[in-house]
Amino acid sequence: MDTRAFISEQIEFIRKTVGEAGALSALSGGVDSSTCTLLAWRAIGPRLKVVFIDDGLMREGEPQQVKSIFASLGIPVEIVEAQADFFKALAGLVDPEEKRKAFREAFYTTLGRLVRESGVKFLIQGTIAADIIETRGGIKTQHNILEQIGIDPELSFGFKVIEPLKTLFKHEVREVARELGLPEAILKRMPFPGPGLAARILGEVTPERAAIVRRATQIVEEEVSPFQPFQAFAVLLADKGTGVEKGQRKFGDIIIIRSVESRDAMTAEPSPLPWEVLMRITRRIIEEIPSVARVAYELTPKPPATIEFI
Ligand code: XMP
Repeated sequence: MDTRAFISEQIEFIRKTVGEAGALSALSGGVDSSTCTLLAWRAIGPRLKVVFIDDGLMREGEPQQVKSIFASLGIPVEIVEAQADFFKALAGLVDPEEKRKAFREAFYTTLGRLVRESGVKFLIQGTIAADIIETRGGIKTQHNILEQIGIDPELSFGFKVIEPLKTLFKHEVREVARELGLPEAILKRMPFPGPGLAARILGEVTPERAAIVRRATQIVEEEVSPFQPFQAFAVLLADKGTGVEKGQRKFGDIIIIRSVESRDAMTAEPSPLPWEVLMRITRRIIEEIPSVARVAYELTPKPPATIEFI
């Protein structure tokens, strides 16, 4: 891929498509949405409204961190507090695809409202090739593939979607991001799924359960950072397991640690993390998160498993 040519073509495309209108970009803090936001900002400047929807399912400190990184690039970001809407939409659901659907609907309802309020005509979205391939292949319905989930954004919400990265794979998006000067703090971030921590919570998604998996994920990310795996995180199972605490039987949460190596997320292998690191993560999770009784390390490659748990 000729990265520079790709960038100028896409900037030109966005400029032409948006014309004199405005556009909205919803940042997630990941490389994909950050990269297409930078492209769109270069194309139309402040006619791009940049929002960060806080769905309550982000990693620790993510909204503020993303806002300050973009502020340092001269791009203002508005944080939209929508946690209550997302938890309400997810309440009582345990089926993975039902959770994805509820998340998606909450996401596009919030976006639709933001677009209406700001009067823009276009939504800039960081869909990449793998999202489209996996959704079409029936592996899962990624939250952002509108055609597949039967939403026509123009009819439903009154905006058109522009997807500048839809032909690229993750490593190519990183090349574009680097060329555009995206700070390392975002460039080096591990991929994070659209439905956020909801993709890593089996059983019901509640604020309390999200807090457990968020804390465990933070511990995993801190401990694996010297090894820079493609993606590493924690998953909260729906079941409980027996443990012992202060001589008392404890029936507590089970956390799975997942760390994988991959190039484009289409296939993945478990990371051969040193034993001491796995043990340190386990000890910290048990000590720092009182509800957890057990920790396990996941060894399944993709395929047959997917990277996320739902
Ligand atoms: P899976 O779990 O399908 O994940 O092996 C492949 C890559 O995609 C991320 N992922 C998502 N990204 N919306 C996204 O934008 C989603 O719904 C979604 N589900 C999974 C996952 O983190 C991995 O990097």
